[in-house]
Parts: sequence; C-alpha cells; structure tokens
Amino acid sequence: MTERAFVEGLPKAELHLHLEGTLEPELMFELARKRGVRLGYGSVEEVRRAYRFKNLQDFLNLYYKGVEVLREKEDFHDLTLSYLEKARSQNVLHAEVFFDPQAHARRGVKFETVIEGIHSALLEAEGRGMSTGLIMCFLRDLPQEEAARTLEEALPYRDLMVGVGLDSAEVGHPPSKFRRVFERAREEGFLLVAHAGEEGPPEYVREALELGVIRIDHGNRAMEDPALVEELARRGIPLTLCPLSNLRLGVVRDLKEHPLREMMVRGMKVTVNSDDPAYFGGYVNENYLAVREALGLGRRELVTLARNSFEASFLGRREKEERLKELERYERSFQRS
Ligand code: ADE
Ligand code: ZN
Repeated sequence: MTERAFVEGLPKAELHLHLEGTLEPELMFELARKRGVRLGYGSVEEVRRAYRFKNLQDFLNLYYKGVEVLREKEDFHDLTLSYLEKARSQNVLHAEVFFDPQAHARRGVKFETVIEGIHSALLEAEGRGMSTGLIMCFLRDLPQEEAARTLEEALPYRDLMVGVGLDSAEVGHPPSKFRRVFERAREEGFLLVAHAGEEGPPEYVREALELGVIRIDHGNRAMEDPALVEELARRGIPLTLCPLSNLRLGVVRDLKEHPLREMMVRGMKVTVNSDDPAYFGGYVNENYLAVREALGLGRRELVTLARNSFEASFLGRREKEERLKELERYERSFQRS
C-alpha cells in the first residue's frame, strides 16, 4: 500500500475548518451569477492566481470578499454540503466546522438564514453516517460588544451548536478582549475554542487558556515559551494545526520548519486540519500528506494524529470510542497486510 493510499484510507476527524474557507472558485462564480454579485475576476483561473498571500490579513481581505456571494439559505446549504461530501470522500468520519455569522450580518444576511442553511446540510451528512459539530466564531477585530450581540442572536439556536471560537485578524486583538462574552458563552454551555498563536505571541495562547478555552486553534507560537509547551502537554490541551495554511500565510517559510513533529515529541496533543482548503491548496488528506513528506512521518505517527483528532473532538464518550475502534481496525488491517 502506498503512503498516499494509507493516508486516504485513514479514518479521521477534522476540527479546524472554516465553512466560508471552503468556497471553491467554481461555486463562487456560480453563486455570483445567481445572486447578481460583481466579483471583479474574469475567470476561475484568475481567482486562483490571486491566491498568493503575504500574511493572514492579506488572505482575510480576499476571504471576506469571497463570502459576499453567500446570500440565501440555499447558498449556505450548498457550500456546507459540498464541503461535507469532499470530507467524506477523504474518510473524515467526524467534522467540527466554524462559521462567521458577523461576516454575513454586516452585509444584511440574517443569522437565521446562515444557520438554517448550514444546519440543513449537516443533517443531510449525518443521514449518510458522518457526525458533525458546529462552532460559531466571533471576529476578534470587531468590538466585544458586537460579539456579545451575536451571541444573544444565536441563543434561540443554541442547540444547533457545540461551541464558540475566535478568529480573524489576530495581532492587536488578544483573547482577553473577549473575556465577558466567553464567560457568557460558557454559562450557556458552549464549549470554548480560540485561534491563538497563529501570528500572535505565546501570551495570546495563555490568555485563551485563562478564558477557559479547551482546544487551541493553531498554537504554533506556543513553542516560543517552554513553560507553556509543558503546560499544554501536561493538561493534554489539543492544538488544531493547519500545515498548508501556515505555509500559504507565511507562518512557516517551509513545511520542513513546521513545529508539528517537535510538538509530538514534547507530548502535545496535535491534530492536522485544513483551515480554509479552497484558498490554501488542499483538504485534510493533502495536509497529512504534506507534513508526512516534509517531516518524514511514519505510519505510526499518522495513526497518532488521526487518534488525536477523535480524542480532541467534542464527540460524546460512546461515539468517540466507536470512532477510535474503527481506527484500531484500520491499523490492525494494515499490520496484517
Ligand atoms: N478566518 C478564516 N481562516 C482564518 C485563519 N486561519 N486565522 C484566523 N481567522 C481566520
Ligand atoms: Zn482557522
């Protein structure tokens, strides 16, 4: 069995995925036509050529422009379902996905439109054997008051979401800015995650932990603080790493310099994810394959990454055990072959 086939067959969970970041140029064009939105690009190829980013902000500028084609429930449904179908084809058994309601509210698209569109697609995928979780992210470059308003608007749909997160431009917007709204979300029973240490310093990872975050999105720069590394390892706080995103946004110069392997050696619970696959040149399997190649990971390490993805998920204990058993069966089957 080739290494590619091994990764493709590996049962896995995806835990760091922005639905708006799965908008492929083909669907962007189709929706732009349908909704009468001017894109400013002549072709799908031209859009793809524009995907050369200097940093996170450079990418976010295009990402927020792209979302302008999403207007109706059906658009959110189609976007979500096409991602879930792709994920399923890559043996993703469980997906926890982010959405950015504020990126739609500021264009006059109602919370209800966004969440009902997304939720109907999640239900469809669940009917086909996948499990899913939905995480609402606050845009950290907007004021806390707007996040608080978004949270209140979300409460009638509380049961459709497992958690809340924090994304968008990191530097200058520390997690502590959102202390009150995270506190309120926790009281409502949301599980807490946050992007931290992607471009921002290790202090932002510490602040995220102080907010009660139980999983860190990215976390690369935690490696600059040995005491923090030790704490993350000791507490088993998962990190959702996104190698191709890190490469495309200049968080690492070369994948050979990616901290994933070093993190594993230090005993940190790391997972591999795709972040915004339509923009960064690969879905989850391409991310596994890219780090495998760059860091020389063996099958045992790939299985550890997949095991971590289920262990770090927000699945209930029984479902988690079932997914882990499926992974064990996979591991045993290749040991025999
Ligand atoms: N929004 C979408 N992708 C993001 C990322 N990688 N970091 C921060 N915010 C984002
Ligand atoms: Zn992200």
